[in-house]
Amino acid sequence: MNVRNMAHHEERVAALRDAEVRALYAGEYDAYRPGLFPRVLGALLVFAGNVVYGREPSYLKFRAVEIIARVPYHSWNAAVYTLMTLCFANEQRALALASTSRFAHFAQENETMHVVVISQLAALHEKAGFIRGSFLPVLFAFFYFWWSYVLYIVHRRSSYELNFLFESHAYQQYSSFLTQNEDVLKARVMASDYLEWYGREAKTEYDFFVWVRNDELIHRNESIEAVVCKK
Ligand SMILES: [Fe+2]
Ligand SMILES: [Fe+2]
Repeated sequence: MNVRNMAHHEERVAALRDAEVRALYAGEYDAYRPGLFPRVLGALLVFAGNVVYGREPSYLKFRAVEIIARVPYHSWNAAVYTLMTLCFANEQRALALASTSRFAHFAQENETMHVVVISQLAALHEKAGFIRGSFLPVLFAFFYFWWSYVLYIVHRRSSYELNFLFESHAYQQYSSFLTQNEDVLKARVMASDYLEWYGREAKTEYDFFVWVRNDELIHRNESIEAVVCKK
């Protein structure tokens, strides 16, 4: 894990608790319009999620979102590994790929924390069968891995833009969840060994979901910064 990136992320995620700071940061890419292909793929993903889990946010839907959301970062790392094999002699290209790898590695650790902690909460608050609870999200994740891998190699911009759309959806869902359930979430005490191991503190579920919402906004913006900066 890149320590400088982790410190930078934690500093930013804390700053985003301030509504004005968050609005300014979100505003940087609120109007960004991805290409047609990622928009079609993104709409299909969101549509499929809404059909299986409903339009409204829920613990179960978040668990599925998180299982799928960590996959592009893993697949980008795999794609970078493949591409790096072809360009050891091109130092600038190798640097650009290494930069993606750092971003992806850290985001993957962050998403893994989300999915582990949210899985505990989902088991506590919502009962789910094997199909909706595990089989479908893992099936989605399998195809999404290869989809992102191939897209990264053949058209990197589309892969980043698809991730931007998926992270935008996650950010909106967590924002609605916090608004709709503020009192309930503030009354639910948070206890998670994994969260503690990760280095985050949250006294209530509300605190935890504020962290997660802000993480998703950073992932959203950094996906487009990767396009702009050609990471
Ligand atoms: Fe996440
Ligand atoms: Fe994310």
